[in-house]
Amino acid sequence: MLDRLGRPLRNLRLSVTDRCNLRCQYCMPEAEYTWLPREDVLHFEEISTLVDVFISLGVDHLRLTGGEPLLRRDLPSLVRMLSRKSGLRDLAITSNGILLAEAVDALKAAGITRVTVSLDTLRPDRFVALARVNELARVQQGIAATVRAFGTLKIDTVVINGVNDDELVDLIEYAKPLHAEVRFIEYMDVGGATNWSPEGVLPRAEMLARLTRHYGSLEPLVDTSSAPADRFRLPDGTVFGIISSTTEPFCRSCDRSRLTADGLWYLCLYAAHGLDLRGLLRRGATAEELRTVLTERWTTRQDRGAEARLALGDRRAFVPLRALKENPHLEMHTRGG
Ligand code: GTP
Ligand code: 5AD
Ligand code: SF4
Repeated sequence: MLDRLGRPLRNLRLSVTDRCNLRCQYCMPEAEYTWLPREDVLHFEEISTLVDVFISLGVDHLRLTGGEPLLRRDLPSLVRMLSRKSGLRDLAITSNGILLAEAVDALKAAGITRVTVSLDTLRPDRFVALARVNELARVQQGIAATVRAFGTLKIDTVVINGVNDDELVDLIEYAKPLHAEVRFIEYMDVGGATNWSPEGVLPRAEMLARLTRHYGSLEPLVDTSSAPADRFRLPDGTVFGIISSTTEPFCRSCDRSRLTADGLWYLCLYAAHGLDLRGLLRRGATAEELRTVLTERWTTRQDRGAEARLALGDRRAFVPLRALKENPHLEMHTRGG
């Protein structure tokens, strides 16, 4: 099943809660948030039913996201339900790491195949300035526990000029003995990033220039997958990635969509509207009816959100605060990053 630009539906990012125990300034900078009503949040059985429909249409990569996914009660039970499904090749999770040390063994036993942890700084004072709570030590314990359980992990670092752009080398050196792969993410002007400005973005080209000055020449790795990161090898063999959604978007190969915790299906990170699958499900739609609706939506998909943003000349935060307050579905933390 291909969309209008020839892209298959392969990746589903499944947000299991919109709540988070951090307040990263690039994602949740405001003092207060409107949360999704609890009665709207999909039950595990509903998620399972929808995932079966997605798998039947070609999805074979599933990633659990949040908010912070480990805030969802009894997450390992959901993972167990999902990991039993034939047709899934990858069942990953993106976490902020705070609760990971206690949870990682149960997640692995339940069938999680890969873990990504967000870590933007190695400096405790900066961590507090960035995320508003003093939890760096627990995040690092979560990372260490994940390495013990899985042997490896990915670390996501959102790079912001003047905030943590001087830590590229420190983060790569931190990751080396952990056998972790750091991915530097350009600061994106997504919903929720109300403080975004072009000056905050450290472009991929500049990241590469700085790392080349420090390490010597970097070898680009050829990768035919649709993963958002471009990967590079340092002279000593260490591999890291760059996700350049802002200055060099990868919409052309985007095979991902997102399901919010309350069952809205978004075809693009930047999409204004989602399809209410919860409503269809709770009104008794059959799997076949859901398949028909999803097929109709995907085969008419033309979204190229990040490319459209890049084509704009004067760029400011994508969604004004007032619109975010009126519609929490526009928030990055509701869409699962
Ligand atoms: P793998 O490549 O499968 O390991 O996962 P991933 O990189 O998709 O997952 P992760 O949750 O670690 O996301 C990393 C970064 O890529 C986040 O900042 C996301 O917001 C960004 N990203 C993920 N999906 C998309 C997308 O569809 N479009 C854009 N523009 N950015 C995305
Ligand atoms: N720009 C770039 N990445 C972001 N994320 C959240 N908000 C932004 C933003 N404005 C990232 C998180 C996490 C991933 C799921 O999304 O850091 O790693
Ligand atoms: Fe996909 Fe939209 Fe992200 Fe482009 S901006 S890569 S189309 S989700």
